[in-house]
Amino acid sequence: MDHDVNGRLLDRPAIEPPESFVAQANVSDPDVRAAFEREWPDCWAQAGRLLDWERPYDETLAGGAAEPPFEWFAGGRLNASHNCVDRHVDERKNQVAVQWEGRLGETRTYTYLDLYREVNEFAAALRSLGVAAGDVVTLYMPMIPELPVAMLACARLGAVHNVVFAGFSAEALANRMGRAESRFLVTCDGYYRRGAATNQKNKADNARIGLDHEVEATVVVSRLGDETHLGDRQYGYVDLLAAHEGDRVDPVARRAADPLFLIYTSGTTGAPKAVTHTTGGYLAHVAWTARAVLDIKPEDTYWCSADIGWITGHSYVVYGPLALGTTTVLYEGTADHPERDRVWQIIERNAVDVFYTAPTAIRAFMKWGSEYPARNDLSSLRLLGTVGEPINPRVWEWYYTHIGGERCPVVDTWWQTETGAIMVSTLPGADAMKPGSAGMALPGIGARVVDGDGRPTPPGEPGYLVLDRPWPGMPTALATGEGWADSHPWRSADGWQYVAGDEATVDEDGYVTVLGRVDDVINVAGRRFSTMELESSIVEVAGVAEAAVIGGDDRSTGRAVYAYVSPERDCPGDDDLRARIEARVREAIGPMATPEAVVFTPELPKTRSGKIMRRLLEDIANDEPLGDTSALRNPEILGEIESVVREEP
Ligand code: WT7
Repeated sequence: MDHDVNGRLLDRPAIEPPESFVAQANVSDPDVRAAFEREWPDCWAQAGRLLDWERPYDETLAGGAAEPPFEWFAGGRLNASHNCVDRHVDERKNQVAVQWEGRLGETRTYTYLDLYREVNEFAAALRSLGVAAGDVVTLYMPMIPELPVAMLACARLGAVHNVVFAGFSAEALANRMGRAESRFLVTCDGYYRRGAATNQKNKADNARIGLDHEVEATVVVSRLGDETHLGDRQYGYVDLLAAHEGDRVDPVARRAADPLFLIYTSGTTGAPKAVTHTTGGYLAHVAWTARAVLDIKPEDTYWCSADIGWITGHSYVVYGPLALGTTTVLYEGTADHPERDRVWQIIERNAVDVFYTAPTAIRAFMKWGSEYPARNDLSSLRLLGTVGEPINPRVWEWYYTHIGGERCPVVDTWWQTETGAIMVSTLPGADAMKPGSAGMALPGIGARVVDGDGRPTPPGEPGYLVLDRPWPGMPTALATGEGWADSHPWRSADGWQYVAGDEATVDEDGYVTVLGRVDDVINVAGRRFSTMELESSIVEVAGVAEAAVIGGDDRSTGRAVYAYVSPERDCPGDDDLRARIEARVREAIGPMATPEAVVFTPELPKTRSGKIMRRLLEDIANDEPLGDTSALRNPEILGEIESVVREEP
């Protein structure tokens, strides 16, 4: 098969889903898109029907579709904790809700009844600490069962959770708590990372010192089991549970548009931006996509390997699968510890039906070799999914063949923190797959590829991926139309449009192929960083005059952070400066943001008006011919930078 320079198939054969899959799929009607179109927006009542409403909604979408404000499921009231826990207890109390696979090989099993009890007890504990509806509770924990329990306990009270990825630094935590004015924190003593224990509580304590406001209560889960010093207004998780044993808390009914959670993500500015998701629209959208795209059935064992610290974990480790009443696997460890077949062992041991992961993980599996999956029984698998970045057709085919045994459809799901849930994907029971292409807009979703004037691009021509119709999982700021324009581009020539920040092409069949970000967001191994955020932490380092950060190609992570730094006149660009830059990035953001390469240069390439030309720096990092350099004031610097980069091992 022919591949283009990016490894995409030129002549892409469509692969039909196997008959056996279609026969049992939750959604297999080939007309489902047309049916949604005919009834839009009321088609989304199909998603609303997957939930229990304390008060039924009056309108699927209030406010019309032309411009904000949009209100999904207007008039309806519901509670997410009731939807993810209580209603399943009535039907299947002894079914496993959460299957935890710990870092050291230990396991813990929570049935729906176990989950119900612990969520209630912890909700009672939070309430006694002063948490009430609308309060923001920050959760700073690794992949342990107490994290989903705490999320659901917040939801039960109508409190808004703010999960901060456990790998973020104290400073990044303080920033996110401060901006959210969050006065409650749930964290843990520490956790294991690549065999070593990290001290999470230390980071949490340091964050508290850096805050302008008081933290009313901190709850500490014991993960390491060591004695932890609890200071003033700090409480042990198990002590709280014991004090509230047997307590029950009535779920607080929320309006559909009330916030369920907020999550910080990198935008195009230096500061991380908060994205707030709603209780009704978000939950309906994740439940519907978990059912239609991930084909989840209540009797399944389902595993999404994403960390709950990112949106994928919120939507498809916690809310989607639990709303459908299935068994969700929670894995604390890494894919290659203690062995490179850890993932396949977990699939075999738990007879996992559906596996959802990221291309960066699949590339690693592929590099390690097919002997690792081959020595485990993967025959329980029925469907595979990927998310987070474009998947190269060769990687897709490896996944399809070596993990799915050519028996499982692969869904390549495009969405974002902002969209809350999947927006573009094939429906595995209805659509043919094209490796490397995410697929069509989901039923009821308006996703289009347009040029700079907002006109649809012809098939195969790259353009901007935009969403031109409201969707149930849309974040609050987009729904209300307030406070969004500052942090994200809008193009409104043709009415309402959300510009996703990705470049894409669309083919004759309407299949969307996502090429990558076209804004100042870098996607490294499925994680988002803002170039501005990274640059502002680098220029804080003594001796640094200027910095430009770009996303360059990297064989294993797909993208890597490259920092081009020009030191001050009397500061040498040496290993000491490099070490201080790396340390500062780790401190400001976290180890996952550490640049792959720090390249020193006396000057950065700039236009005559002083704008740094990042495109050219990307070309150098990617070993590509340099684009147009005629706008440069200092074109001679490029040769110098190129020679430094080429010298790097
Ligand atoms: C960005 C959003 C939402 C899941 C995790 C990432 C990229 C996401 C795909 C895909 C190509 C993808 C886009 C998007 N992306 N899924 N299937 N194919 N690219 O969420 O951190 O908000 O990042 O991830 O660039 O804009 P996020």
